[in-house]
Amino acid sequence: MSRTALVTGASSGIGAAVAGALAARGDKVYGTTRDPSRVADPLPGVEYLRLDLSDPSSVEECAAAAGGVDILVNNAGESQSGPIEELPMEAVERLFRVNVFSAVRLTQLILPGMRVRRYGRVVMVGSMLASFPLAYRSSYVASKAAIKGFASAARREVGPYGVGVTTVEPGSISTGIGTRRTSYIAEDSPFAGEYRTMLAALNANEVNGISADRVAATVLKAVDSPRPRPLYAVGSNAPVVFALRRLLPRTAVERMVSRRHGL
Ligand SMILES: NC(=O)c1ccc[n+]([C@@H]2O[C@H](COP(=O)([O-])OP(=O)(O)OC[C@H]3O[C@@H](n4cnc5c(N)ncnc54)[C@H](OP(=O)(O)O)[C@@H]3O)[C@@H](O)[C@H]2O)c1
Repeated sequence: MSRTALVTGASSGIGAAVAGALAARGDKVYGTTRDPSRVADPLPGVEYLRLDLSDPSSVEECAAAAGGVDILVNNAGESQSGPIEELPMEAVERLFRVNVFSAVRLTQLILPGMRVRRYGRVVMVGSMLASFPLAYRSSYVASKAAIKGFASAARREVGPYGVGVTTVEPGSISTGIGTRRTSYIAEDSPFAGEYRTMLAALNANEVNGISADRVAATVLKAVDSPRPRPLYAVGSNAPVVFALRRLLPRTAVERMVSRRHGL
């Protein structure tokens, strides 16, 4: 059956792959971007809507323009790095506006229609870093943990109405996000050496990561499941590292994450 989907951040990377996959199978797809006139590679079957998650009124306008939505994929996000001591609070607040509050608001605007129609799927695109916190990524880790928290708790509220809420945590995915990451480090930072080491490893992992299409396949698996699980993870050897996370002491997992990033 053809559904109507709204995929945020559909101009590149994971969002473009999800929007393309949903459109290719015949769903009506709205994809968002901050500037629809500048989408480099518009996808067939995807209608682009303007959405700037840093602007609360844009969220209201986007939801009104999309109308009734059966599948909401909250994918758009900012990737941010920096030692906690040196992250400007304006940057942290913007990150939470973009990655958390606006995604929550969009979900609030879309959910009532799903509940009344007794069908809906809401996918939060989180990050494996929320399950495996990494130094110098505290704001990003916290934003992805927050969005997962909203999703995990809301599941029981709307589940009885046929609405499945889930989080998909990608690992390292080769989308070029490393070139768009915001980075905050003081010129005379005592953390500069370690920070550069971590960033170089992070960027190398991303470049060597799996394709956005594989994440899109996981998102579609979640969407198509009659009862989506609370959490899906894909990339960065997810099945192995989540198994280790269940078996090993927390400090051992911390060391494992640090080592993977040269720390
Ligand atoms: N790539 C990875 O390794 C990885 C790993 C874990 C999690 N993730 C998460 O997966 C999601 C997609 O990442 P990606 O790698 O596909 O990144 P990407 O290629 O940089 O795409 C990000 C998308 O978000 C949109 N966006 C950025 N800031 C926005 C804002 N303020 N308001 C509205 N839209 C905004 C961009 O659209 P416009 O620029 O056109 O507005 C773009 O379509 C993100 O939430 C990211 O945190 C990625």
